[in-house]
Amino acid sequence: MASHDDHDQTKKPFKLRSQRWFDDPSDPGMTSLYCERQLNFGMTFDELQSGRPIIGISQTGSDIAPCNRHHTILSQRIKEGIRDAGGVPLEFPVHQIQETLKRPTAALDRNLQYLSLVEILHGYPLDAVVLTIGCDKTPGAALMAAATMNIPAIAFSGGPMLDGWYRGRLVGSGTVVWEARRMLAAGEIDNRQFMEAVAASSTSWGHCSTMGTALSMNSLVEAVGMSLTGCAAIPGPHRERAQMAYWSGRRIVEMVKENLTPSAVMTKKAFENAVAVASAIGASSNCPPHMIAIARHMGVDHTLEDWQRVGADLPLLVDCQPAGRFLGEAFHRAGGVPAVMKELLEAGRLHGDVMTVTGKTVAENLKDVPLSPDREVIRSFGKPMKEKAGYLVLTGNIFDNAVIKVSVIDEEFRKRFFSDDPDVFEGKAAVFEGPEDYHARIEDPSLGIDEKTILVVRNCGPVGYPGSAEVVNMQPPAALIKQGVNALPTMGDGRQSGTSGSPSILNVTPEAAVGGGLALLKHGDRIRIDLKNRRVDVLIPAEELAARKAAWTPPKLLNKTPWEEIYRNNVGQLGTGACLEPATLYLNILETRGES
Ligand code: FES
Ligand code: MG
Repeated sequence: MASHDDHDQTKKPFKLRSQRWFDDPSDPGMTSLYCERQLNFGMTFDELQSGRPIIGISQTGSDIAPCNRHHTILSQRIKEGIRDAGGVPLEFPVHQIQETLKRPTAALDRNLQYLSLVEILHGYPLDAVVLTIGCDKTPGAALMAAATMNIPAIAFSGGPMLDGWYRGRLVGSGTVVWEARRMLAAGEIDNRQFMEAVAASSTSWGHCSTMGTALSMNSLVEAVGMSLTGCAAIPGPHRERAQMAYWSGRRIVEMVKENLTPSAVMTKKAFENAVAVASAIGASSNCPPHMIAIARHMGVDHTLEDWQRVGADLPLLVDCQPAGRFLGEAFHRAGGVPAVMKELLEAGRLHGDVMTVTGKTVAENLKDVPLSPDREVIRSFGKPMKEKAGYLVLTGNIFDNAVIKVSVIDEEFRKRFFSDDPDVFEGKAAVFEGPEDYHARIEDPSLGIDEKTILVVRNCGPVGYPGSAEVVNMQPPAALIKQGVNALPTMGDGRQSGTSGSPSILNVTPEAAVGGGLALLKHGDRIRIDLKNRRVDVLIPAEELAARKAAWTPPKLLNKTPWEEIYRNNVGQLGTGACLEPATLYLNILETRGES
C-alpha cells in the first residue's frame, strides 16, 4: 500500500518558485521590475515578498464559453479561500473552448488550451494553480497541463445545470437533441417544438446536465484524485458549489506547503480508479482519449488495454441519461461520485490506497461517506442497472483499435441485430465521406439502406476533420425511423457526443485520413462485428484489401487557420489520446529542463 505521506518524502525546505521572480536578493534589478508591475493595481511588496504562495486560477469561463461562464463569479470564492489560507491569488484566462459553438470542432482546441495553460504556468511566477473546469474539453486540457508542469494543482468543477423539463419529462442537455431529431424526422413535432424541447434542457448556469462528456470528465477528475471529494456533481447554482470553490482555494495553499504535486496523485492506480468509475457512471466515450492523454503527459503507462482490463466487466450503477433516466441534480442528491466510489471500494474494485489532492487516500476520503440513500439513481454493486457495462476495446482487419460503449446497447437493438448469436452481427456498409456527405445522402433511396445496414463515416479523425468530429452517432433515414428502426449500428474514425445513446464503434484508429483501413471500405462491403471476440472485420480477401491499400492516395486537406496546420502536423490518433506528440516528451519539465 502506498504510504499516506509518500508526497512528504522530500520534506527539505524549499524556496517558493514565485520568489525567484519577486524576492531574489541576488538580482534586485529584475526583482524590482517583476514587483513594480504587480504593484500597479495596489498589490504591496509585503504580499509578494513575505513568502506567501502565489496561486494561479486558470479561468475557462467567458462570454463565449457559456458552460463555464459562472466560473468568472465562482473564482471570487476561490480567491477568498486562497486568501484565508495565506496565499495570494492571481486569476488568468486561458484559450477559451465551448463545445457546441466552436467550428470546426472543440476537440481541435483541447490541445491549444493545454498549450496555453502550460505556457502560463511555466512562464509566470505561480507556485500552484486552481484549474476551473466544466465544458467537455476543459477537464482534459487542465489535467494535461497540470501533468506536464507537475506543480501543485487542484481542479475545481463548475457543476452541471439544474434539471430541465419539457412536457412533463426530464430533458437532458444534448440527449434531448438526439431524441428530438428522431421525433422531427418521424413527423411527431415541428421545427418550433424541436427548438423549444432543446432549449428546455438549458435551465441555468452550469455544464451539460446529462452524463455526457462534461459530467463524465468532471467525475473522472474527481475519481483520479485531482478535485476535492464530492466536487464533480454539485449543480452550478447550488450554494455548495460556491462553498466548494472556497474549500478548493483553501486547500491549494496547503498543497503548496505539502509540495503535493500531480505526480503523487495521478499514478497508474489512480487512472485505474477513473476507469472503474467510468464504467459505473456510464461515462462518455470521449473519456478514454482524454484520460489516456492526461496519463501520457504524466508519464504514466495507461492505455486502451487498461480500459478493457479494468473497466469492461464492471457494472453500470448510475441511472443517468443517456444510458438511463436521471440528470445531474439527482446524481448529486444520490451522493455523486463519492457514493459511486464507495460502492466500488466495498466491492473490492477500487484502489483505496492512492493519494488525492485532499492529502488523504481514496479510502480515507470515503471513510465517512455513506452509501447512496437513493437506490433508484445509484444502484448497489450487487443490483446494478446493467452488468458488464464498460467499453469494449475492439480490433480487426481495418483498424488497430476502436471502442464501443456497451452500456447503451439496449435489448431491443440486440434482438434486432444479433438475431442468431447475441454477440455477432453482419451487415453491409453504407459509407459516407464525412458528416456533410452523410447529411446530403442519407435519405437517398438508391443507397439501399435497410435495417441490416452499418452506417460508416470516415475522414472525421484528428487529422481528417481536424480535431475529430462528434458525428459517428448517425441516425437512420427517415423512412426507417417511421418503421420503428430508431438506430442502426454505426462506425467511424470520429467520436460521438457523450450525450448520445447510440451503439457506435468509435474513435477508429488509425483514421482514414492517415491511411487507416476505414479509407479502403466500399459501399456494400460486408462487415462482421463480433463483440465476444472484440473484432470488427470487413469480409473481403486480404489480397483485395492490399490492392485497395496500394491504390489509396492521401486526401488533400485544407487548413483554414494556422493552428489547424500546426495541429495536423503534430497530432496523434484517438487511440493514444490525440496528443500533440512532441508535447508528450516534455515530462516533469521543471526538474528535467531546469527552471527559467
Ligand atoms: Fe459545454 Fe455540454 S456543451 S458542457
Ligand atoms: Mg461533446
